[in-house]
Amino acid sequence: MKIDLAGKVALVTGSATGIGRAIAEALSASGARVALNHFGQSGLIAGLLDALGDGARAFDADVTDATAVQHMVAQVEAQLGPIDILVNNAGILLEKPFLELTENEWDRVIAVDLKSVFLCSQAVLRSMQPRGCGCIINVASELAYLGRAEFSAYCAAKAGVVGLTKSLAREFAPAIRVNGIAPGPTDTAMLSLDQLSPAWRIKELAIPAGRAAGPEEIAATAVFLASDFARFYYGQVLSPNGGALML
Ligand SMILES: NC(=O)c1ccc[n+]([C@@H]2O[C@H](COP(=O)([O-])OP(=O)(O)OC[C@H]3O[C@@H](n4cnc5c(N)ncnc54)[C@H](O)[C@@H]3O)[C@@H](O)[C@H]2O)c1
Repeated sequence: MKIDLAGKVALVTGSATGIGRAIAEALSASGARVALNHFGQSGLIAGLLDALGDGARAFDADVTDATAVQHMVAQVEAQLGPIDILVNNAGILLEKPFLELTENEWDRVIAVDLKSVFLCSQAVLRSMQPRGCGCIINVASELAYLGRAEFSAYCAAKAGVVGLTKSLAREFAPAIRVNGIAPGPTDTAMLSLDQLSPAWRIKELAIPAGRAAGPEEIAATAVFLASDFARFYYGQVLSPNGGALML
């Protein structure tokens, strides 16, 4: 089974690092031209641009800012052509006891992890819908289903991503396919001890697989969902999670 995305244009948010970077690399390796969204990470993106070659372009934009998102989508379409594949990947994590969570912290997590999916999807769907084709892939988390003490804003946002994925899938079917991915623990900066307390890091890895995923293992799911092999998938949230959650 060979996935060929030649002729397709993909926009990946938060692609300077981690899962987004791996998704951008994998889409490019399958033939897509890739728009690399980042948020002020020009240094990291420069290396990725070099690696991906002529088909890739970088776009610096805060995906929580409606004006910046609209400008980015217009620039991507002007430089690469209409967007066929949108991957809403950008995200942040916040570990904090619920009673200490401030309103600003709550708003920021919801903005990056959920509002960005609304803004980017709406901006891209405005041109996808008249063309009558395209696909959107939203990166949620296994924690959308499990919940977790001291990660309330993150879990609420990711559960919102799952609901938004299913709603958009119903609203834009059959022409446009909207699906999601709910990864388990994945070896990126988000899972580092800068982000997680040691106790949670240990619990994260106590799953049937006994290890965290590599970002490329999550990227494989994104490439599949973007491909014609997934043409009967609508509103599905696939779970490469090492057995952390078995539904
Ligand atoms: N690592 C895991 O264990 C794991 C598990 C489940 C889900 N996820 C999800 O995967 C996605 C990618 O996370 P990751 O693990 O690669 O971590 P990461 O921190 O390496 O990647 C997140 C990316 O989002 C970008 N970003 C943050 N705010 C942004 C903004 N306002 N505008 C544009 N970009 C912004 C960051 O710059 C970063 O490049 C996230 O949505 C995360 O919630 C990760």
